[in-house]
Amino acid sequence: MIRSVKGFNDILPCESRRWRRVEDAARDIFDRFGFSEIRTPVVEKMELFKRSVGAVTDIVEKEMYAFPDRKGESLCLRPEGTASVVRAYIQNNLYHEDPVAKLYYMGPMFRYERPQKGRTRQFYQIGAEVLGVDDPLLDAEILYMLSLLFGRMGIGGIELSINSLGCVLCRPSYRESLISYFKKHHSRLCVDCKRRLELNPLRVLDCKNKDCIEASACAPYMKNNLCENCSEHFSEVKAGLELLNVSYTINPKMVRGLDYYTKTAFEITCSRLGSQNAVAAGGRYDRLVKELGGPDTPGFGFAVGLERTVLLLEEDLSAASKIDVYVIPLGSEASRWSLKMVKELREKNLSAELSYGRRSLKSHMRRADKLNVRYVIIIGEDELRKGTCVLKDMKNSVQQEINSGSAASFISETVDKGNGILKGEVS
Ligand code: HAM
Repeated sequence: MIRSVKGFNDILPCESRRWRRVEDAARDIFDRFGFSEIRTPVVEKMELFKRSVGAVTDIVEKEMYAFPDRKGESLCLRPEGTASVVRAYIQNNLYHEDPVAKLYYMGPMFRYERPQKGRTRQFYQIGAEVLGVDDPLLDAEILYMLSLLFGRMGIGGIELSINSLGCVLCRPSYRESLISYFKKHHSRLCVDCKRRLELNPLRVLDCKNKDCIEASACAPYMKNNLCENCSEHFSEVKAGLELLNVSYTINPKMVRGLDYYTKTAFEITCSRLGSQNAVAAGGRYDRLVKELGGPDTPGFGFAVGLERTVLLLEEDLSAASKIDVYVIPLGSEASRWSLKMVKELREKNLSAELSYGRRSLKSHMRRADKLNVRYVIIIGEDELRKGTCVLKDMKNSVQQEINSGSAASFISETVDKGNGILKGEVS
């Protein structure tokens, strides 16, 4: 038997309804905030992520699904969505259409990480990016949008932590002070951090190795080394969050695992998730568009991890049925009548399913029960002759014989009114 690849999971029907719920809530909220959907390919050039996420990051150094194509071009499966959206924005001159682009996406991302609860190698993100706005109130507004999304899904107990990562003006001197701090603790750093120290000292702050965490205990904070502009930006973001009633904490150690961030960076976590507790993350990236060859355009965005969000959904949707009417024919002539019946029901915007197979009525009804359908139509030789069918309301187990010619209209009206069948008139 051929099994799926490790870390690449099937999303089975019993789960996909919860996935749809998250996706539908996100689309609805994105619409209300003026976002449009963008769909980018899953395969990109490797260079895109080296130049955006950063060559000296875990994602690019250790986690890429990279491969040469038949002509030797270095390609990869995208590990995240932001770089692809920015590439598409530049390549398609979207900045000519509107100085502000609000784009959202949903789709699979790929990282070669050790699979565990809430961490897979193919995982799905719902992301949103705003290009062309440098106002700190936008950062607050988008964080508010995210809190609204989690609220809409009934997910409580989540925490927003924010930090500022500075800009090209203030980060270089902070970088130097970090390097000199870590040089004093050099012997305690892991092999990776020793190697990365000069190239990307912020990564040491993000390292999960116990010794590196201890070594960074007294490291200087970026938030205490911000230039005036970054400091003001951070204050405005905080003021915006307060204005919108979004609660947050400041985590001065948060640096994020991607290099493109400037100024605001954030994470949303939930302790119910266990060790992989980040359910969404993002921030500002004011230099990325220019660095990837586009005009000087600021950016801000986030990505929500779908698997982790679904784990947090409390409502059990598995029992909810999608089927309004289940049609059970007893005999082959009744089967042909039923085929037309389900067609008619669907034309009336009802969901209907024909119960196939020569089985006993009991066995047909068992499946209707399992599907948790609202109505069942039963038609046999007798009813066919009389021009009727039996309609059973599964909610209250009441059944009655109705005219088979007008059954579809009768059920459709009953469902529209939200009534049980006994309250409707039999035509
Ligand atoms: P990220 O923090 O790498 O940011 O990922 C965002 C979210 O994706 C995480 O918080 C987590 O919920 C989910 N995630 C990441 N890796 C995995 C995995 N292996 N398995 C399951 N879920 C995972 C980004 O990707 C940025 N592009 C976010 C962003 C958008 N920044 C600005 N705009």
